[in-house]
This record gives sequence, C-alpha cells and structure tokens, in this order.
Amino acid sequence: MQYKKIENRVIAEEYTQWCRSLTVLGDSVVMESAKRELIEGISSMLGMKPESSSEPQQSGLVLAEIGTVGDLVDVDGKQLNDDGYVIKTVFSGQENTIYIVGKKDKGVLYGAFHLLRLMQNRENIQQLNIVENPKNQLRMLNQWDNMDGSIERGYAGNSIFYKDYQFSAELNRVGDYARLLASVGINGIAINNVNVHQEETNLITSSLLPKVAEVAGIFRSYGITTFLSVNYASTIQIGNLTTADPLNSEVREWWKEKAEEIYSYIPDFGGFLVKADSEHRPGPFTYGRNHADGANMLADSLQPFNGIVLWRCFVYNCLQDWRDRSTDRARAAYDHFKPLDGQFHSNVILQIKNGPMDFQVREAVSPLLGAMEKTNQMLEFQITQEYTGQQRHLCYLVPQWKEILDFDTYANGKGSEIKKVVDGSLYRNRYSGITAVSNIGNDYNWTGHTLAQANLYGFGRLTWNPDLTSESITDEWIGQTFGDDQLVKEQVSRMLLKSWSIYEKYASPLGVGWMVNPNHHYGPNVDGYEYSVWGTYHFADWQGIGVDRTVKTGTGYTSQYFKENAEMYEGLETCPDELLLFFHHVPYTHKLKSGVTVIQHIYNTHFEGVEEAEELVETWLQLKGKIDSERFEDILNRLQEQADHSKEWRDIINTYFYRKSGIKDELNRKIY
Ligand code: GCU
Repeated sequence: MQYKKIENRVIAEEYTQWCRSLTVLGDSVVMESAKRELIEGISSMLGMKPESSSEPQQSGLVLAEIGTVGDLVDVDGKQLNDDGYVIKTVFSGQENTIYIVGKKDKGVLYGAFHLLRLMQNRENIQQLNIVENPKNQLRMLNQWDNMDGSIERGYAGNSIFYKDYQFSAELNRVGDYARLLASVGINGIAINNVNVHQEETNLITSSLLPKVAEVAGIFRSYGITTFLSVNYASTIQIGNLTTADPLNSEVREWWKEKAEEIYSYIPDFGGFLVKADSEHRPGPFTYGRNHADGANMLADSLQPFNGIVLWRCFVYNCLQDWRDRSTDRARAAYDHFKPLDGQFHSNVILQIKNGPMDFQVREAVSPLLGAMEKTNQMLEFQITQEYTGQQRHLCYLVPQWKEILDFDTYANGKGSEIKKVVDGSLYRNRYSGITAVSNIGNDYNWTGHTLAQANLYGFGRLTWNPDLTSESITDEWIGQTFGDDQLVKEQVSRMLLKSWSIYEKYASPLGVGWMVNPNHHYGPNVDGYEYSVWGTYHFADWQGIGVDRTVKTGTGYTSQYFKENAEMYEGLETCPDELLLFFHHVPYTHKLKSGVTVIQHIYNTHFEGVEEAEELVETWLQLKGKIDSERFEDILNRLQEQADHSKEWRDIINTYFYRKSGIKDELNRKIY
C-alpha cells in the first residue's frame, strides 16, 4: 500500500482519465473505507484527488452495491457470492467509467483494493471486465498476542494491540493493520493468543469488553469480524464456579449469559477460538467428556447470535514417552476427533493445522483434513516463522501452502484436494475456510524481515483464491513493494521462490522435522526438541534414522490416510523422498529415488543449503541502488545473518550424523 507516484507520464495520464471523479452509491462504514482507500491511493499515485460526487459523472469511478446500481451498468448478481464483486469499464466516446459493484459493501471494498493493485502494477485498466469471488468463506488470522504486550512466537516486535496488560493507548496501527488485511481479502481475526492466561481471560468481562468493542469497530469498518480466544475454564477462573464440566447446567448457563453480554457490546461478534486439552490448557477431558461435548456447549451459547466456535484439533499429550512407539504424536488429532464425526453442532468448525505435528519446514499433511464428512473444517497455517527461521532467515511459504492445498486426499475419490475440503465444496459444509497465525508486530516494517511481508500478503491472496500461482502472487507483491524495475522483479522473485527449499536443505532432512533448540525453536539442535525429553524423536542410532509410522512394523499412522495415500506412504518404494524419514526408519545407506544414500543426501543438502544461502546475499547485492537504502541495508543484514547461521546448521547436523554413522562424505568435504 505504498502507492508510489507514477512517474511514467503516459500511464499517469491514462489513469487520470478514469479517476477524475468518485461516485459512491450507498452508505455504510465499509463503503466509506472503500472511498477513503481509493482517494488516498489515487491521490498518492496520480497527484490529483478525485472529486466526490453523488451521481455518476462522465469520467470516473462508481462504487455501488448491486442493489443500488439500477440500470447504470449490466451486472449479473447471480455470479457473485457474498464477498464477490465486479469491476467493469464502460468506454465510449463520451463516457469513461469504471464500475466497482459488490454483492455487498465488503465486495466493493475488495474491488477498490483490486483496482489499486492493478494501478500499482501499472496494468492496463481500459477494458476491465473482472468477476471475482473468494473461494473460501472464512479467511482469518489468529494473533498470538498476550496482554503483557508480548507475542507468542512473534518475531517482529511487540503487540500492536496490548501493552502492560492494557489495550494500547494508540490503536492507529490496528487501523492500519485492518487496511492491510482487507487489501488482501482477510475477513476475520482472533485478537488474542490461543493460550489464554488470566489477563486475557478477562477480555470477556465488562472491564475489557468496551475496548474489545472499540477494536471490533475498527475491524468492522474494513469488513473484518472479530473473534476472541477463550479459556475453556473461564467458569472457574472468572465465573466463581468450581467446575468447567460442559454438561453441568450452571456452566452452560454461565456461558449463555456470557455470550449475551459479549453481543451486547459487539452485535456482530464472530465467536470463540479454543485450544483445549493441549499443552497444559484446560479442557473437557478433565471431566471425562469429549471434545464434541466441550465445543457444543460453547456453540449453544453463541447460536442465538449466529456466532461460531473455532475448535482447534491441536490436541496431543505433550508428556508422552517418545520411546514408546505405540503412542505416536502424529496420530493424536485423528484419533481424538475422527470418531466424533457427526457429533459437532453446525456452528462448530474444527481448526486443523496443516500437518499432524507442528508447522515443520516439511511434514505430511494432516490426515484429518477431509476425513470428517459431517463436520465443518478449517485449515490452520502458520505465517509466523516459528520453525522456519523466525523472520531472520528468508523463507517464503506460499509454495509450501500451495503444495498443501493441492494435495489430493482422495476423501471423495480422485480430485478431493485439500483446497476443496476447506472451501467447503467437497462436503457442502455450512462453514469452512483457512486461518493462519499472523507474523506481524509493532516493528516499523511490521514483519521484522521486510521480505517476510510477502508471506502475509501471499496468505491473503491464496486464501482468496488457492488457484493463483506462487509466481503471480510473488510478482504482484514485488511490483507493489519495490516498483517495476525488471531486474528487481526477476531477482527478488527468484530469491523468494527458492527460499523454502534453501531453508529446508540446511534444516532437518527428509521430513523428519524439529532439530531445533528447545523452547525458543531457533537454530540447530538435533536432539533438542523439548517434548522428546525421554530420547530423540527421530530415532537416530549408529545404523539409521527415521520414524516408522507404517502399519506393518510401526505406529500405524499411515492407516489414517485414505487408501491411495495410505499405500503410497506405507511402501518404502512409493513414499516420496522428501517425507521418507517422516514415515520410515531406514539405514543411512538406504538409496533414495534420487540415487544417493540417505547419509550422502544429508551431507549434500547441508553443503548446498549454505551455498544457496550465500547466493541469496550475492543476488541481493546486485540490486544496490535500485532499492531505497534503508530497506536495502535492512534486508542485506538479515540475509548475511542467514548465510552465517546456515553454516552452523550445516556443521552441527553433518557432524552429528558423521559421528553417529561413521560414514564419510563421498566428496571428502570438511565435516567439523
Ligand atoms: C506450538 C507452539 C506453541 C503454540 C502451539 C499451538 O507448539 O510452539 O507456542 O502455543 O503450537 O499451536 O497451540
């Protein structure tokens, strides 16, 4: 949203013709935002302010909800869903008008941002005939912000929402955040951490609800619905009850009254996000109840107000003994939830992480996605780079997300990709969508690493339309962020698109995951993962490595997939290389499909990863003078840190496996 002045006079003059006036038909806070955004963007790019008018002029822009457009322009409302819009150019000798028509006001806002995006990328706008509908109904973000001002897994400063156990005195950044999010079509946000401490438990009390309402008002004006993460044991923590048993009538009554109170402050409140029975959080298990009992109780309280419960499936025993191969953490979500299919109320959505473990650089997709025909499901990604370099390393995640969305679950035969599960089309769900843990903080550039902004942007765009290519999303972002210099476009695109693979090369190999330092999860530590205190989770010994998750000899996890995938992962021959150690325990001498042995692959990729991280620095240096010095230096520093740090990854991991296996690198490179 830089809206840099357009220097090319021909383009600037052409755009000016279309932007002389701005007519807004209809009246709402969201329409106001659309108008404000257009005026700001156009003024900044063209150095002229469109004249506001209440009737369409011969040259200009017209914003309208479909109900108010009359016969001004021919738009078929049937082609639009609730958040959809049309942008249509009417071009005749006398009339140069661009109509932005939404089914509702939100669509108009998205259409306004679309036009601004085209102009920022210097596209031709003379013959527009665009029809856009978001593929996903819920396009959400989860803030893991705490009221002390910290952010769990935050790598870009402190919270923009809270400071010292209060809401921030200045909420202007929240306003800017709403603008950023709406510009890529995000329409929901949970504003506090899923780990709800005492202070955040109070967010649903009268002391803090007026402030929550103020924040919700800011988001509302950009078409974004506000949700809160709630503490499952709120009845005990703030309700003076001695139980949180979901079947207890006092507990149920308490939540009903609570919901009523919340809606009296925020009439369009979205609902609750819940992490229960996971990593020491309270939940229904304490009372011998299952997760349908827990989720439904909350859903009943929200139902009269059309609120929804986003119930997370990240439920596993973090104290499990990893030596006991019958308890496989990867199995946990499916084992807990699959038997409950059909028992959840229609305003509950299960929120499922993309993988069965925890946002690793590479892991299999969660077998729960697509496995519950009668249950609303939502996919959870992690934009914040907890395990992927914490915004000190470059790791552009759009290609990873695309791979996941395109994965065929076979849930309903061939062609049952995850994107069709989560857009609700496969099982015709009432609610569905995609959510993600945000990567922003109060750093001046929002995301710590400036290039990590592309992850937030890309998440929004991909969630709007999972069929967009990584390349096109990347190009759009670069154009708007760094302008239209060809070399900049090519180099930055190459850097972004390669970065996930580079990170994967020097991080943990072949899908085995983790290998990070305990607790903060930054940097290499092969045996470091804190929840595997009883021994290594990757089972590396002097002969081999990997987790046997087969039915035949392992944990049986592969059986949680539909037949085609279950067979593919079960077979050593058919399991894809990149996930080999996620599914199989093999000797170091096992030959991959690529032709090299596992141990040689580990050495090779770790050397390559470092070389490629160094190349990122070289590539960036070629752009000196083409990017403002502040951003140039800032990004350069991060890339240099990454290149240095990648050597630590290489050396620690290679040495570990050399010592374990006693097998030398075929190329005799130095292993420390
Ligand atoms: C990971 C992460 C935690 C987070 C948890 C979750 O385990 O390290 O910080 O709370 O995921 O998603 O709930």
